[in-house]
Amino acid sequence: MEYIQIAIDGPAGAGKSTIAKKIAKCLDITYIDTGAMYRALTYKVLVNNVDIYNEEEIIKLARESDIKFFQENIYLDNQKVNEEIRSIEVNKNVSYVAKIREVRLILVNLQRKIALDQDVIMDGRDIGTHVLPNARLKIFLTASVEERATRRYTELKGKCNDISFNEIKKDIINRDKIDSERKSAPLVKAEDAIVIDTTGLSIDDVVEKIIDLLRGE
Ligand code: C5P
Repeated sequence: MEYIQIAIDGPAGAGKSTIAKKIAKCLDITYIDTGAMYRALTYKVLVNNVDIYNEEEIIKLARESDIKFFQENIYLDNQKVNEEIRSIEVNKNVSYVAKIREVRLILVNLQRKIALDQDVIMDGRDIGTHVLPNARLKIFLTASVEERATRRYTELKGKCNDISFNEIKKDIINRDKIDSERKSAPLVKAEDAIVIDTTGLSIDDVVEKIIDLLRGE
């Protein structure tokens, strides 16, 4: 039996996870947030006070880690870490962890295993190019840096008072740069991906567009 695979890639804050989650609900398929996996490992690196440039130690931690999803939650070594992985510290450091080739091999392996026996929509940076190269539909979601930073700012403002718009914008630009310039599976549009620029579009507009594409309309 062939399972449905949908790949959503794009830069930081383009709305990938919000949109992928909605589509997953609509189609009753599994949503996999691959960024959460890199974030969970980064959280572990920080908790263990491992230097972010110490690749050897980080790879060792990656090999020892148990990262899994259960009912829309992410677990690191059996601890639910949904909130912890969204911290400013994790944001600042995750791209350094994600650019390590061996780390990617371990997490990509897990991601492919999840997609083996169920219908999935997966979002990340390398899903269409690398993790699921035969996905039925590949979307590259983007939006202007200004708009992406504004959305993140609005989202975080309620939760955390001491974050400035400029700090968020800087973080987004920096992550995009590291993610696009790394050697191993960089952030790049797959040749057969469809680009959707979400600047000025509502979440529901984008969801509808993607569902139409899936139906071949
Ligand atoms: O999607 P999110 O912004 O949560 O991803 C956090 C980080 O994880 C990205 O900035 C990137 O460094 C890394 N990532 C990746 N490959 C993926 C998903 C995320 O390198 N497939």
